[in-house]
Amino acid sequence: MTETLFDPLTIRSTEIPNRIMVSPMCQYSSVDGLADDWHNVHLGSRAVGGAGIVMAEATAVTPDGRISPQDLGIWSDEHADALAPITQFIRSQGSMPAIQLAHAGRKAGTYRPWEEHSGPVPLDTGGWVPVAPSDVPYPYEGDDRGVRKLSIDDIEQIIADFRAAAVRAKHAGFEIAEVHAAHGYLLHEFLSPISNTRDDDYGGTFENRARIVLEITEAVREVWDDDKPVFVRISATDWIDDRPSWDLQQSIKLAPLLQAAGADLIDVSSGGIHPDQAITNTGPGYQVSFAEAIRNETDVPVGAVGGITDATHADAVIRNERADLAIVGREHLRDPYFALHAASELGVDVEWPPQYRRAKPR
Ligand code: FNR
Repeated sequence: MTETLFDPLTIRSTEIPNRIMVSPMCQYSSVDGLADDWHNVHLGSRAVGGAGIVMAEATAVTPDGRISPQDLGIWSDEHADALAPITQFIRSQGSMPAIQLAHAGRKAGTYRPWEEHSGPVPLDTGGWVPVAPSDVPYPYEGDDRGVRKLSIDDIEQIIADFRAAAVRAKHAGFEIAEVHAAHGYLLHEFLSPISNTRDDDYGGTFENRARIVLEITEAVREVWDDDKPVFVRISATDWIDDRPSWDLQQSIKLAPLLQAAGADLIDVSSGGIHPDQAITNTGPGYQVSFAEAIRNETDVPVGAVGGITDATHADAVIRNERADLAIVGREHLRDPYFALHAASELGVDVEWPPQYRRAKPR
């Protein structure tokens, strides 16, 4: 039977009401990593808007894992307490609250996009020395912070930090946990030979470069409820061809290993590891073919993200079995009610919140 955008998706015994997910998007609006009214209204309105899954932005498992000093965090119980009312509201709207657990690695500590300055925040104005798999900093112009190469003990601590963050996320009421291993942040930095030049158990061979993301996925799965989904976001390719890098073939090899480690769905993005990336496709659905390739080659469920902006396209991605979830980012910033509008456009009768029912197109 053909699956469509508005068919529910059951993963483990969690029923997601439709195949639309709000992509995690940093809001750069926290003080000390704490969620506040902005996050509540932002995430809450996308749940009102009918998305099956509302995923909170990259949420740092440690303070030095924040992309910007204004990122959301979940490194203490206070952080989880601030998120709890948000998950409760999202659930009250029939949507699934999800959280992306993240560590920015060598790309941590940069200005948020709308500041006067860009690039890394200097050490004397609140910045910090980022950690990385190797002694190789991201090539930010004028960055004199350096990087600190992680020791084996540090790696064990980061695995424990992800595990503790997942426990807190569970207590905060999230139904789905996503491990962020994309976009040139810490776990992607381990996967890619561009940023990982280690010669110990965490570098060199494919198996060694993949070790930390598999261990973190296992750790999150261990503490996440058995009936609830764990996702992993990856960059399917570095878009760098002229030297050893991460590519689609390695992603296809990684997907079943992530599944064996406890992941239920691979959220397939791309890029972010190095400014030399040569992204050749930026049009509608520009990463869908990567999701499709992983799904076809491995049978592991996937989410497709990138340039999905209209209902018919999102529906076609599902109907044509290219992905199991249509993940929509920027279009959800333009239109918090994307899913309700998509249903109308596709002629599917979905419940509108009773408060808004008189506005439902007939
Ligand atoms: C993003 N993106 C992103 N990705 C991610 O994995 N974690 C994050 O926290 C963020 N933050 C973020 C903030 C903002 C403002 C934007 C626009 C994007 C990437 C995002 O989730 C998505 O993958 C891309 O935007 C591509 O999808 P769309 O926007 O074309 O649907």
